[in-house]
Amino acid sequence: MKAEETRESGVTGESRVAGKSVAGESGAAREESGVAGDPAADPISLRGATATLGGRPVLRGIDLTVRRGEVVALLGANGSGKSTAVRSIVGQVPLSGGELTLFGTPRRRFRDWARIGYVPQRTTAASGVPATVREVVSAGRLARRRFGPPRKADRAAVQRALELVGMADRARDPVSALSGGQHQRVLIARALAGEPELLIMDEPMAGVDLTSQEILAGTLREQVAGGATVLLVLHELGPLEPLIDRAVVLRDGCVVHDGPPPKAVGQHALPGHDHVHPHAAPDAEPIRTGLLT
Ligand SMILES: Nc1ncnc2c1ncn2[C@@H]1O[C@H](COP(=O)(O)OP(=O)(O)O)[C@@H](O)[C@H]1O
Ligand SMILES: [Mg+2]
Repeated sequence: MKAEETRESGVTGESRVAGKSVAGESGAAREESGVAGDPAADPISLRGATATLGGRPVLRGIDLTVRRGEVVALLGANGSGKSTAVRSIVGQVPLSGGELTLFGTPRRRFRDWARIGYVPQRTTAASGVPATVREVVSAGRLARRRFGPPRKADRAAVQRALELVGMADRARDPVSALSGGQHQRVLIARALAGEPELLIMDEPMAGVDLTSQEILAGTLREQVAGGATVLLVLHELGPLEPLIDRAVVLRDGCVVHDGPPPKAVGQHALPGHDHVHPHAAPDAEPIRTGLLT
C-alpha cells in the first residue's frame, strides 16, 4: 500500500526509503534486511547467469525462474551445465555475472537455507565413513537446529522422512551397506527432514533401481501435493513425467527451451545426447558433490 501511495505522489526512490523509515520498522524494513521475503516471491529467479569453471564459460547467460508450487525439470545433455546451474543456486559455484534471488532476496543477503532442501548429484565414490542411515538423515535437520542436541521435533522429522522413503527399517544400518537406490532414498530423506519449501534434486533417478524409482516418485508426489516447489535435474523425464509442470533445456550453458515438457522426452530426444564434452572427463567432476563423506 505504502509503495502505491508514494508512486501516486510521484516521489523518487530515495523518498520512498525515507517513507519506509517514517513508517517505523515495519515488514517493509525487515524485507529490506532480507529477514522476511515477499511471501509471493518466486523461490528461484536466475537472470543472465554466467559462471566459469576451470577457465571455461560453463553457464553463458541463463534465465531460470521457478515459481511457487511449480515442478520444473532441468534437462540437457551431459556437460550442458545443469549441475553447475543448481550448484550456483545453492551457493556452491559463484556466478561471474547475472542475478540470483531466492524467495525474493538477493542471493548475497539470503540466509534462510532451511527453506531449501538440496540433493546433489550422486557420485560413485564410496565412502568409508560408517555413518548410519539415521545419522545421515539427521544431518538434514542441522539448518533447523539452534544449539544443543536434537529435540523431539527434530527426531520426529527424521523419522517421518525415513518413513516417507521407506527406509525406517534400515535406520541403524551403515549407509555403506545400501544399494544405489536405497542410498539415494536416504539422501532424499535427508533433504526432506529439513521440511523445505523448495526441493532441488540433481538427477535423483540416476543409478536407481525400479523399486526405488517408484518410491521416489511417490515421495515427490506427496511433497508436491503438500505445496512444495521442486527443481529437478533429469536426464530423462521417465516416471516423474506426470509431475512436471515445465521443462527448461540447457545446451552448452544456454537455455534452448523453456516451456511444456517435451513430449516423450527420453535421453535420446535431447539435443546433443551422445555428445560427450571433451572436458567432461569423470575426474574433472568436482568431488564436493560426493555425499556421506
Ligand atoms: N569444477 C569444475 N572445473 C572445471 N570444469 C567443470 C567443473 N565442474 C563442471 N565442469 C565442466 O562444466 C561443464 C558443465 O558441467 P555440469 O554442470 O556438471 O554439466 P551437467 O550437469 O549438465 O552434466 C562440463 O563441461 C564440465 O566438465
Ligand atoms: Mg550433472
